[in-house]
Order: sequence, then C-alpha cells, then structure tokens
Amino acid sequence: MYHIPQNVFILGDGGLAREVGLILEQMPKKWQFAGYVGPKSEDAFLEMVSNEGILSVIIGIGIPRIRRIVYDRFIVNGGLNFINLIHPSATFGYDAHLGIGNVFTAGVQATTGLRIGDNNYFNLNVTVGHDAQIGDHCVINPGVHISGHVILEGENLLGAGSQVLAGLTIGRGAIVGAGAVVTKNVDAGSVVVGIPAKLMERE
Ligand SMILES: CC(C)(COP(=O)(O)OP(=O)(O)OC[C@H]1O[C@@H](n2cnc3c(N)ncnc32)[C@H](O)[C@@H]1OP(=O)(O)O)[C@@H](O)C(=O)NCCC(=O)NCCS
Repeated sequence: MYHIPQNVFILGDGGLAREVGLILEQMPKKWQFAGYVGPKSEDAFLEMVSNEGILSVIIGIGIPRIRRIVYDRFIVNGGLNFINLIHPSATFGYDAHLGIGNVFTAGVQATTGLRIGDNNYFNLNVTVGHDAQIGDHCVINPGVHISGHVILEGENLLGAGSQVLAGLTIGRGAIVGAGAVVTKNVDAGSVVVGIPAKLMERE
C-alpha cells in the first residue's frame, strides 16, 4: 500500500532544529520535512495553521524552558499535530506510556515500564532504564544514562555524558551538568555538577 508522506514543520531554526531535520531525512518515507519555523515566523505560521487546518510539527529547541514556552504557545492554538519522532535505530519497550512531541534520536535505548510525557528530547545514545518516569519538556543530551526508577519531574536539562543513579528524583527545572554522576535527589530549580554531583556554587 502507498502512504502519502506527511509534511512536518520543525519549530526552531537553530543547530538542534537542523539535527531534527536530519532525522526526518533519515526516516522511512512516512514523514517529509516541510520547513523550519523560527521565532520571527511563528505568527505567520499560526496564521497558516488557522487557514489550512491540521499541520504536523515537532520542536527542535535544546533549552527546556524555551521548549515549554513554544509548546504551550502552539498547543493552545489547536489544529496542530505534535508527532513523536523516533529514529529507526532507537529502541524502547512497547509497554511505554508515551505522550506527544517527543524526539528519540539515533542510538537511544530505553527499556521497559517507562512513562514519558510530552515534548522531551532524547539526544544521541541516551539510555533509559526500567520504570523511569520522564515528565515534560526535558532535554537529555548525548550519552546520558538514566537508571531504573529515576524520576525527572519536568523541564530538566541533563548535560552530555551525565548519569543518574537508580531511584533518584530530579526536581522540576533542575539542571545536571555535563559529565556529572548524580547520587542523591536533586532539588527543583537547582544546578548540580561533578562526581558525585554537588550544587554548583554561584558567586
Ligand atoms: C552546568 C552548566 C549548565 C553550567 O553552565 P553555566 O551556568 O553557564 O556555568 P559556567 O560555564 O559559567 O561555569 C561556572 C563554573 O562551573 C564549572 N562548570 C561548568 N560546567 C561544569 C560541569 N559540567 N562540571 C563541572 N564543573 C562545571 C566551570 O568550570 C566554572 O567553574 P569556575 O567558576 O571555577 O571557573 C553547563 O556548564 C553544562 O554542563 N551544561 C550542559 C552542556 C551540554 O550538555 N552540552 C552538550 C550539548 S549537545
């Protein structure tokens, strides 16, 4: 059977947006890249949404707070279809509860019993252990390892190569620095770095 490819717009026009564009190119012919929507063209895009009805979108922005703002703006304007973009080499258990607007890039390996919210970005070669809960609007950078039963409350940035040990909770909006090993719960809104991860000192 022949499927007509669905046009997908990428919200964002920076480097990460181009990486999402590359994933679309690498996908089987289900999706077709339709264009980038940068901050300056958002209004015109929303007008097009109201004229043309359902359009498929995915967010290509690497800062959790900005992902949330753009998501909120576009989700309330209805008629938009936030796809889950899953690279063919990414794997995860089919028992996962998966929201909308998530990106799984090449080499992501997520296992079983997962609950994943909306608008999360799983960058290259991230692993996610059993029964982890990922909230909304998280950015999980390349090579991060999230162990079993970890909870990310939402809007979290996990820096490249960091690890979160089993059963820990990363509070809403908290940031884990690149290369950190998190061995204790992290409070909402805080920034931790190092091995073992400690609160980043600010002057
Ligand atoms: C933790 C982080 C968010 C802090 O950013 P910031 O607030 O701009 O911090 P600064 O760069 O001003 O650094 C402040 C201090 O923390 C140190 N620091 C920064 N990041 C660190 C890290 N990941 N581990 C250990 N120390 C770190 C800096 O060396 C500096 O120390 P100094 O004051 O003794 O010189 C950021 O450095 C980080 O790790 N981001 C993740 C980036 C990432 O994953 N990139 C990959 C994209 S694909």
